[in-house]
Amino acid sequence: MIWIITTISLILLVSTTHGQSMQDEYNLHLQLLNHSNYSKHIRPYIDKTLPTIVNITFDLVSIRELDEILGKLSIVGILWMRWMDPRLAWNPADYGNVIYTKLEMKRIWKPDLIIAHPIEPISAVGFDHYHYPLLVYYNGLAIWSPGDVMTTTCNINVAYYPFDTQICTLTFIQWGSTNMQVALHAVEKEVSTKFFVGNGEWDLIKAYAKEDILENNDYLYPTYNIVIELKRRPAFVVVNVVLPILFMGVLNVLVFVLPPQSGERISYSMTVLLAIAVFLTLVGDNLPKTSEPMSTICYFLLTNLVLSSVIMIVTIINLNIFHRSELRPVPTRLAKLVLIMRCKRSRRNKVQDIEMTEDDVPEIVLKKEKDKLENATDKTQSKKMKWAVHDADELNDVTWQDVSRMFDIIFGLLAFVWLTFSAAAFFGMVSTQSVPGV
Ligand SMILES: *[C@@H]1O[C@H](CO)[C@@H](O)[C@H](O)[C@H]1NC(C)=O
Ligand SMILES: *[C@@H]1O[C@H](CO)[C@@H](O)[C@H](O)[C@H]1NC(C)=O
Ligand SMILES: *[C@@H]1O[C@H](CO)[C@@H](O)[C@H](O)[C@H]1NC(C)=O
Repeated sequence: MIWIITTISLILLVSTTHGQSMQDEYNLHLQLLNHSNYSKHIRPYIDKTLPTIVNITFDLVSIRELDEILGKLSIVGILWMRWMDPRLAWNPADYGNVIYTKLEMKRIWKPDLIIAHPIEPISAVGFDHYHYPLLVYYNGLAIWSPGDVMTTTCNINVAYYPFDTQICTLTFIQWGSTNMQVALHAVEKEVSTKFFVGNGEWDLIKAYAKEDILENNDYLYPTYNIVIELKRRPAFVVVNVVLPILFMGVLNVLVFVLPPQSGERISYSMTVLLAIAVFLTLVGDNLPKTSEPMSTICYFLLTNLVLSSVIMIVTIINLNIFHRSELRPVPTRLAKLVLIMRCKRSRRNKVQDIEMTEDDVPEIVLKKEKDKLENATDKTQSKKMKWAVHDADELNDVTWQDVSRMFDIIFGLLAFVWLTFSAAAFFGMVSTQSVPGV
């Protein structure tokens, strides 16, 4: 509504400029400021018992930065403030139909808004910049719109980094006046974004304004709050930190596929471990450096570093086993374990063989095989005996190389499961915003 009135007034102004002279406006200024004994220290009111109502709307221009480490939000915005100052009213007919004029900001009463939780030295909004125009209409409506970089502290929770959403509140407080003297009124609940320029790192989810009252030493101070909800765009961190570390993890697991005879295992896993360590140093600068609460991505990176170190240790021990002398017998338990694993694999192969060839095998042979199987199931006792003899032979055949190969399979699988699990847990917890203990 006010906008429409303003626009109409401007059109009227353009159409009536012909009748004005500069002297009219000069006389008006003299009348308003010099002859009427105007004091900017006295708030405008008609009824002293009622507060001066200041209507505020906010224009968000851009998000400059949200600093996780300092806990600071910096934005560029414009505050549009409107209030009625009856001392500044005039009759346009007396001054050549001047409908509005621009007055020197320093000589007029203005709301003294300061940021309630500043991170930089405290100063009133628009105080340093006296070039902001203060428009006054003939009916006493004053409009002042200081724009500035506004910086406030903000509690930042990086537990879900880089899938985090931050909510920051920029609070303006009317300094030196209680709510009985000045009332701040948020006209529109939505913050205007018609001048808004997007930010590459943060996505503006919503921004709204609300008025509030702050209690301090038995006095109630009016406040005007801008609540800004920002969601981080995670692509940069995922592509530059999470995926590289996952691929290095996969490379790391592949050490168990490398033949031990090649003699490259140690240097390979050492290289990957170093690569991960150097990579972590590089990305460390880009990660949030707060411990309260710690971001989950740090634990994820640590998990990968630990995995790499464990793989290094296992590789060394496994090489030791692989190169053990044949003169040292393989302990029976280890040998049995090797046989069990081998058995499982070979039995599966046998079953496949039978299925494959059943049609081609002559009837008699098939019958013989079947009889054998039946005998075995009937006479379980003799079967066990047979197996025992069989095992004794095979147990002696198990070499240290076989043991080492078995460990390769076991630890290769374990490492792969670890890697998959850590990645799944990280993405699961962070993207659903459910980190335990936060
Ligand atoms: C009006 O008042 C201001 C400030 O008090 C002063 O600087 C200026 O000279 C005055 N103008 C006239 C014409 O008296
Ligand atoms: C302003 O104050 C002077 C005395 O300081 C007085 O003579 C004059 O009448 C006052 N003007 C108005 C408009 O009240
Ligand atoms: C402030 O806003 C209210 C409606 O929210 C309106 O009635 C009032 O006239 C406005 N005052 C000024 C000075 O713009």
